[in-house]
Amino acid sequence: MLYSDKVIEHFLNPKNAGYIPGADGVGTMGDSSCGDYLRIYISVKDNRISDIKYEIIGCPAAIATSSILTELVKGKTLDEALKITDLDVIKAIGGLPDPKVHCSNLGAGALHGAILDYKNRLREKKQ
Ligand code: FES
Repeated sequence: MLYSDKVIEHFLNPKNAGYIPGADGVGTMGDSSCGDYLRIYISVKDNRISDIKYEIIGCPAAIATSSILTELVKGKTLDEALKITDLDVIKAIGGLPDPKVHCSNLGAGALHGAILDYKNRLREKKQ
């Protein structure tokens, strides 16, 4: 099984790992009690994702795809970020070996969850 150079680069030097204290939105995918799990934190300014970080339990492919997802998303509007798919993440990382494709399936879902969480919080504040 061969990883692309980008997968190796992002696994060895993950970008935006960590968490954002007081994040505007938080989204998760997976199950922390039994394996692969991703939690994404976002900060939002002027309807754009001004910062994004993540915590993950997963294999090198999951770490690398989460890392590149944060690079894809930073600075995007919320609507643009909501259009990002698992396939976009796989393309951005230069592809994944077939047995590892599922490892990239946490990112877009957790991101979309964080955006929905942000929108829900905003709605509650306005009420
Ligand atoms: Fe479980 Fe990759 S995240 S094998």
